[in-house]
Amino acid sequence: LILINAFIQLFYLAFLFSVYSIPEEMKKGSLIGNVAQDLGLDLKRLRSGRARIVSGESIQYVELKPDKGVLAVKERIDREQLCGDTTPCSFTFEMILENPMELHQIMVEITDINDNSPTFKRDSMRFEISEIASVGARFPLATAEDLDVGVNGMKEYILNDDDNFVLKQHSNAEGKKYAEMVLQKPLDRETNPSLSLKLIAVDGGTPQRSGTVNIDVVVLDANDNAPVFNQTLYKATVTENALKSTYVTTVNASDADVGSNSVVTYYFSDLSNSLGDLFKIDEKSGVVLTTGFIDFEKDKKFELQIHAKDQGGLTDTSKVIIEVVDVNDNAPAISVMSFTSPVSEDSPPGTTIGIINVKDLDSGDNGQVSCRIEGTAPFKIKSNLRNYYTLTTDSVLDREMVSEYNITVVATDSGAPPLSAQRIFNIKVSDVNDNAPVFPERVYTAFITENNSPGVSVLTLKANDPDENRNARISYILEGKNIAGSSVSEYVSVNAETGVVLAARSFDYEQLKELVFVVKAQDGGSPPLSSNVTVKLIIQDQNDNPPQVLYPVQTGGSMVAEMVPRSADVGYLVTKVVAVDVDSGQNAWLSYKLQKATDRALFEVGLQNGEIRTIRQVTDKDAVKQRLTVIVEDNGQPSHSATVIVNVAVADSFPEVLSEFSEFPHDKEYNDNLTFYLVLALAVVSFLFITCLVVIISVKIYRWRQSRILYHSSLPVIPYYPPRYSDTMGTGTLPHVYNYEACRTTDSRKSDIKFGPTSSQNVLLMDPTSIGTMQRIKNEKSILDEPELSSTQQQRSLSSPDWWLHGG
Ligand SMILES: *[C@@H]1O[C@H](CO)[C@@H](O)[C@H](O)[C@H]1NC(C)=O
Ligand SMILES: *[C@@H]1O[C@H](CO)[C@@H](O)[C@H](O)[C@H]1NC(C)=O
Ligand SMILES: *[C@@H]1O[C@H](CO)[C@@H](O)[C@H](O)[C@H]1NC(C)=O
Ligand SMILES: *[C@@H]1O[C@H](CO)[C@@H](O)[C@H](O)[C@H]1NC(C)=O
Repeated sequence: LILINAFIQLFYLAFLFSVYSIPEEMKKGSLIGNVAQDLGLDLKRLRSGRARIVSGESIQYVELKPDKGVLAVKERIDREQLCGDTTPCSFTFEMILENPMELHQIMVEITDINDNSPTFKRDSMRFEISEIASVGARFPLATAEDLDVGVNGMKEYILNDDDNFVLKQHSNAEGKKYAEMVLQKPLDRETNPSLSLKLIAVDGGTPQRSGTVNIDVVVLDANDNAPVFNQTLYKATVTENALKSTYVTTVNASDADVGSNSVVTYYFSDLSNSLGDLFKIDEKSGVVLTTGFIDFEKDKKFELQIHAKDQGGLTDTSKVIIEVVDVNDNAPAISVMSFTSPVSEDSPPGTTIGIINVKDLDSGDNGQVSCRIEGTAPFKIKSNLRNYYTLTTDSVLDREMVSEYNITVVATDSGAPPLSAQRIFNIKVSDVNDNAPVFPERVYTAFITENNSPGVSVLTLKANDPDENRNARISYILEGKNIAGSSVSEYVSVNAETGVVLAARSFDYEQLKELVFVVKAQDGGSPPLSSNVTVKLIIQDQNDNPPQVLYPVQTGGSMVAEMVPRSADVGYLVTKVVAVDVDSGQNAWLSYKLQKATDRALFEVGLQNGEIRTIRQVTDKDAVKQRLTVIVEDNGQPSHSATVIVNVAVADSFPEVLSEFSEFPHDKEYNDNLTFYLVLALAVVSFLFITCLVVIISVKIYRWRQSRILYHSSLPVIPYYPPRYSDTMGTGTLPHVYNYEACRTTDSRKSDIKFGPTSSQNVLLMDPTSIGTMQRIKNEKSILDEPELSSTQQQRSLSSPDWWLHGG
């Protein structure tokens, strides 16, 4: 084209007219060409010729500047407007000169510049393509126009980078270019639900111009995706006893598709009936709820298969594992494996009383049980094996203090809050004979007046035994001890059941002042226990014995007289009345009074001591023979008394007395043989005395133990006065008498002296075999009545007063 234009210009220049070529769209006033010069005209000619442009066109594009002789652009020149597609594009006009008239034709050729871009008729394009569209599918695209021509015209299409599509360009018969896009890679709505492409149309101009159109590709969904659970395993926990419709978990399956293709429903597969009662799943939301009562003790874990299904029937499967959380809903249960009651009070600490088993169905801490005993009791509970507890005694039991225990065993689990169970054990303590009967006092003292009637109740003993039943049944037993040679049971008896002590006989104070014996209280246990108590039975005196006059001895036949020399002074001790009273105390408190006297003015009797003394000088006028009657009284209530007659001879010599007492004829003969008798008597007495001593010593050694009893019996000391002793001596000198008395009394407690009734024979009984043993004297009567009990020979010889006094 450029070459052709150049050629035409040359042609115009050479021939008719001037030709100018300018690009379109030049600015107003731009120089087109120096027409004066080109036409060979000077400026004066132009001025004179009044050069001007004439044109048939309505629009004057060009103007002439005559002062410079140049042509300039007057109006904007748009080639596309002026010529459209026509090429080359030019216009002509004439320049007229006058004087001479000259006409010059001028042609201006407009050359194209790239001032137009390719344009699409629409701003955007939209395609809806199913994701399952097959590769190779074609999609025609809009065409672009470019008003420029030639190289500035439309050149080609470009599709911006895209994997899925390629662009294919074509030209139609008129040379118009168009394009289509071809699917080269399948679409996936799920990865790229829409594509935004740009189609660019470019021209060939310089600088290049382009036009763009947006292509929106919407990928249409197809059900090409199955639902997918977001977890392969769902774990959930549910507490047991949860209320109905308690939330368990939510499962979620998502379907990459959209719309109805993505609607997922959930369901459990092959749910066994029992599980179906417990759980349900919301078909739409996937929420799993409980529908029934869940018991941990039955099921600790559930495993459910769940399915998700979309509308197209595509599915996925997952699992829900539900762990049941234990709740402390079971209290411990106490069961007694063995239990023994009563338990003996002598059981050692640690004795097993029972074994209990404790169960708790819960698990973990909720099933962890501990046992204890409530309150304080001498028992303890400990666990040997898991869940087994032994109940044992913790200390020594004492039935007498606590005979029964109610102990509460409490089993508590470790749950929160803890549950507990309790059980009461009634433990009885059985008695063991561990307590002896006890008397409240150590010694009992009872009083009884002598001469009681046999069988009279003396006192009642009562011992206590805290044991029970047989072990507390007390029997009272008199301990067999001998008293004064005879069994104590001859004195008293004890009622075994009531403990009443009875006197078994009538007591005689003069024999027995006090009876000490032991009563045993024994219970019925096995072995029995017992305790002793000492009973002191004090026999009280009654004034039942009259005083006994020991000296002077009163005999029926013989006559004893005390000698008082006529020279005796006032206060001369004539003799002493000696009397005893076997009673005691007041009853034995003797007083002596002169009842009758030949001469009351001559003698007096000591009230207390019984001494007979002269109260004035004896004179010759006083009768030789004086007779005094002394009365001895005790102080008892009523009082008893005895009288004694004392003969006193007031003489200086023996013959004088004899003459006075001549009424005793045999006395003369007696005096004749006095010397002989004295010697004989002395010999016999000496012999007897030695014999007695030997016997006493041997018996003492043999029975020295029993002698103690006699110490306790405290028999009265009885002074002994041999009958007519003073008479034998003739002078009646008292020192002799006292000597003898002293000799006897040193041992008198142990001597075996008995006095017969004074009224009868004045017999001295002396049983050497029983010296020092009161026991042998069972009673005086038996000895007196049955002399053969002891040595009869000695008995006879001793019991003969004649032998004693007169040498047989
Ligand atoms: C699965 O979905 C459930 C319910 O929406 C959600 O609670 C859970 O966290 C999800 N799991 C994962 C691994 O994203
Ligand atoms: C499932 O999970 C998806 C994405 O994680 C969420 O958008 C949707 O709401 C969940 N569905 C349920 C029922 O929780
Ligand atoms: C023990 O319990 C029993 C029965 O409840 C009752 O009879 C008895 O008195 C109680 N014993 C003690 C010592 O509490
Ligand atoms: C009781 O006395 C008897 C006889 O004196 C004696 O054998 C016994 O041991 C005594 N018992 C007690 C418990 O003192």
